[in-house]
Amino acid sequence: MSVIMHTLHVELGERSYPLYIGRDLFADRELLRRHVSGSQVVIVSNDTVAPLYMDRLREALDDRKTVTEIILPDGEQHKSLETLSSIFDRVMTDNHNRTTTFIALGGGVVGDMTGFAAACYQRGVNFIQIPTTLLAQVDSSVGGKTAVNHPLGKNMIGAFFQPQAVLIDTQTLQTLPPREFAAGMAEVIKYGLIGDASFYRWLLEDMPRLLAREEAALAEAIECSCANKAKVVAADEREGGVRAILNFGHTVGHAIETAQGYGSWLHGEAVAAGMMMAMRLSAARGQVSPDEVMQLETLLRQVNLPVAPPKEMSAEQFLELMGRDKKVVDGRLRLILLRAIGAAEVVDDVSSEELVTLIEGR
Ligand code: NAD
Ligand code: GLY
Repeated sequence: MSVIMHTLHVELGERSYPLYIGRDLFADRELLRRHVSGSQVVIVSNDTVAPLYMDRLREALDDRKTVTEIILPDGEQHKSLETLSSIFDRVMTDNHNRTTTFIALGGGVVGDMTGFAAACYQRGVNFIQIPTTLLAQVDSSVGGKTAVNHPLGKNMIGAFFQPQAVLIDTQTLQTLPPREFAAGMAEVIKYGLIGDASFYRWLLEDMPRLLAREEAALAEAIECSCANKAKVVAADEREGGVRAILNFGHTVGHAIETAQGYGSWLHGEAVAAGMMMAMRLSAARGQVSPDEVMQLETLLRQVNLPVAPPKEMSAEQFLELMGRDKKVVDGRLRLILLRAIGAAEVVDDVSSEELVTLIEGR
C-alpha cells in the first residue's frame, strides 16, 4: 500500500511543483492520475531499472492511456545526443502530441536525459521524475537541471526545465547496490554541511539507521535534503549566485572524476574526497575546528566513502583540472568553503600556494 510520508514544494511561481516522499509512490494510481494529464505517456528507463519497476508503474497508469516504453542502455556513457535522438525517434514514430507526459524512471542519468528530451520535444511537454537512486532522490531530480554529455565535456548540452512533480519512493532504494547507495549519501551529508547544522548532527547520530536502510530514517534524510535543495533552488533557479553552494566538494570532485576517467570513481565518491579537501581548507582558514574535520572524516569512513583524492594525482594536475571548472569566472577559481558547520560561502581568493599546500598535505 502506498504511503506519502512527506510533501514538499519547490517554490518557483507558476512553475512550482510538489515533491512527494514515501512508500510505493511510483505505483500510486491517485498520484499518477493527478499529475499525468493527457492521454499519452512516455516512460523512459534503462535496462537495469525497467525489469525491477516498469511493469508496476505501467499497471498503475490509467489503462485508457497510450504508453510508449523506452528502455535505454544503462550507463553514463549513454548520456549522449545519440541516445537523446533515439528517444525522439520513438516518440515521433508513436505520434506523441504536445499533451504527452514524459516520465523518468531511474537514476540521475535517466532523469537528466528524460528531462532534456521533455524540454525539447515540441518545445516542452509535461515531465515527471521518479528517481530510483539516492543521489537522484536528493539531488538530480530536484531543481530542473537537465542535460546530456558532449564528448568534450559532461552535462554541456542541456536546459533548465522543471518537472511537474517528483515521486520519491524510498522502497526503490532497497535494490540499489551498496556502492551507489554510499555515493548518494555523500550528497545527503553535503546538505547538512552547507546549510543545516541540526540535520548534520542528526546524521552523525543516526547514520547506522540510514545504512541499514530503515524506511523512516531514509524518508527523514531525503526530506531534509530536498527541503534544503528546494530552498536554494527557489532563491536562485539558474545559478546566478547562491545555488553554487550546492557544488560544495564538487570542484575537487570533478577534477578527480576527469583524471580517473568517468565511471572509475562514482560522482558521490569523488564529492566525498572533495568535501574533505574543502573542509581542511576551511579549517586552515580557522573557520571550522580540527575536531570537526575529524568528525567528518569518521562519518565518511562509516559510510565507506573515500576521504582523500587518489595519491597518484599531483598538485599540478589538480590545478590544471580545477582551472577548467564551470565556476571559474574571469580566470578566478571560485570554491565553496564552510564558514561554520551548516553555513557555506563562495570564495574567490584561494591562492595556488594554499591549494598546493592542501593537496600535498592530504
Ligand atoms: P545512474 O543514473 O547511473 O544510476 C546508478 C546505477 O544504479 C545505474 O547502474 C542504474 O541503472 C542503477 N539503478 C538505479 N536505480 C536503481 C535501483 N533502484 N535499484 C538497482 N539499481 C538501480 O547514476 P546516479 O548516481 O543516479 O546519477 C548520476 C547522474 O546524475 C550523472 O549523469 C550526473 O551528471 C547527474 N546529476 C545531475 C544533477 C542535476 O542537478 N540534474 C545533479 C547531480 C548529478
Ligand atoms: N547538483 C547541483 C545543482 O542542482 O545545482
